[in-house]
Amino acid sequence: MCGIVAHHGLVPALPALLDGLERLEYRGYDSVGVALDPGDGGLPSVHRTVGRLPALVAALPGEAHGATSGIGHTRWASHGAPVAANAHPHRDCSGHVALVHNGTIEDASRVRAELAVRGHRIATEVDSELIAHRIEDALPAVPDLHAVVRAVALAVDGLRGTWALAVLVGGVDGVVLARRSSPLLVGAGGGRLMAASDELGLGPEITEAREVPDGHLVALAGDVLWFDGQARPVPAPSSWSLGARSASVDRGSAPDFTAKEIDEQPAAARRLLDGLLGRLQGGQLLEDLGLGAPARIRLVACGTSGHAAEVTARVLAVEGAIPTRVVTASEPDLAVPEPGTLTVAVSQSGETADVLAALDRWGDPVLAITNAPRSSLARRADAVLGLGCGPEVGVAATKTFTAQVVAGVALALAVASGTGRLSAARLAHLEEVLDGLPMRLATTAARAAGPAADLAEELAGEPGVVFVSRGAGVPYAREGALKLEELTYRWVEAVPAGELKHGPIALLGPGTPAVVVAAKPRGRLAVGIAEMTARGARAVVVGPPEDATLPTCAPSEEPPWGPLEAAIALQLFAREMTVRLGHEVDRPRNLAKSVTVE
Ligand code: F6R
Repeated sequence: MCGIVAHHGLVPALPALLDGLERLEYRGYDSVGVALDPGDGGLPSVHRTVGRLPALVAALPGEAHGATSGIGHTRWASHGAPVAANAHPHRDCSGHVALVHNGTIEDASRVRAELAVRGHRIATEVDSELIAHRIEDALPAVPDLHAVVRAVALAVDGLRGTWALAVLVGGVDGVVLARRSSPLLVGAGGGRLMAASDELGLGPEITEAREVPDGHLVALAGDVLWFDGQARPVPAPSSWSLGARSASVDRGSAPDFTAKEIDEQPAAARRLLDGLLGRLQGGQLLEDLGLGAPARIRLVACGTSGHAAEVTARVLAVEGAIPTRVVTASEPDLAVPEPGTLTVAVSQSGETADVLAALDRWGDPVLAITNAPRSSLARRADAVLGLGCGPEVGVAATKTFTAQVVAGVALALAVASGTGRLSAARLAHLEEVLDGLPMRLATTAARAAGPAADLAEELAGEPGVVFVSRGAGVPYAREGALKLEELTYRWVEAVPAGELKHGPIALLGPGTPAVVVAAKPRGRLAVGIAEMTARGARAVVVGPPEDATLPTCAPSEEPPWGPLEAAIALQLFAREMTVRLGHEVDRPRNLAKSVTVE
């Protein structure tokens, strides 16, 4: 899952390519590269490096700055290790073809073997390189732009997989694009034509975008030329105006973006609640979104967003008795189509390939809960419930998680109220509790900061941590565990406390840290704690100050959405531990902010 960008125009390509790549880094940052058309009929020059953009910029020769046509790529390694040789752009044997690819070729071994038989020397382990060789085979000796379009169409025909491709061919003035399933946008402005995986990658002068239709090709030359999958000219699809793209985000005085984004949660929750409270009674929110009352709900998401979906499902079940299923987007087989279902796709980026692919399986109306209102998901959905958190740069989701929970809970309460199962009086009470959430998040952040730092210091040497909770606390235990795991590279085990004795209790020994997420560690959760401490585990309670190591500020009675405030305390703990271990907080290894391959 990678980001691609392309430029053709009358002005130098590099500033726009590099700017676009920087904005697309959230899709992967294992390596980065560009290919540039020298403009004199010569071969494209390819420059690539492991790591980030500054390393690439430092390695670029002076002549690169004059090129007006080029392509670029930021990589998250899928086929082939994250080493310089596997970085994009990739080339054919002759060096005439240079291409960048976002997606995966599923039948790469078959294609590789066929190319080898035809005498191609494949230089890398990367599936994308194979497409360059197939284009080489399909090109005439002296190609023009239309010949390149036909060659790209032939090269991808018969491949299994997904792609957004940008291709340069030596001696041909123009960039050819092709798309199947991976998003790809095209725009014009400021003397340039550009293409990119998403709006962020298009330069600030680009004021309008069009999506390359699935299975189609495009040429960026003097103008934008549109083709179907057989390289036959077709009319341009409709365009939309681009609003201001987020300027490079400033982290101000915060030590890292993750710290800044953790701090922003009370304000983000306030903004969201201000837009939602008062619209829940009688299902008003659904009506505002243009949606009818659903008989059942399917929530589909991955990772952290999946935890927010679990919270939403619980509120739907408890307050509305609405049949609800949470589907892990990468495992959609268990979801049987049922009439009257509303599919709610929860994705902060709106670009998660598994989520987009899962939606293709069902014909239901789709509501997107996303922080990216112009993302692929938002374009695909029938209605969008935006989070309005502003850009989240830290790869570990923080403010978007709490916002997803707030949006999901509001949706659940609106649905429950719409069915009449949630009384007006109970709704009013729950809205009041929600209204106090921003204040409680801020108090929790202030209360938990010191203890989180102390705890991180004490536990930094531990190889792993167990997380438990019960009931509405379980998604937060899972989320706290995911945050710790992805940032600190420690193993974690997150289970409902009742499941401990069915296996995971074997992990516990003297001093094993066991984080207990609790509104109040009473009843059967207290039994779970006793079972763990009897085996020598060290219980770390996250909850109201009277009981807790990591104190939160929770409402006096646990609401149906559970101890959401604990999320912020657990984020602080994970970040503090990461700092102590010397890992990069904003860019954990092996991850990307948006997972754009299935
Ligand atoms: C973890 C994290 C991921 C994402 C997951 C889905 O901190 O951010 O687990 O939640 O990759 O991403 P979105 O929400 O963009 O669909």
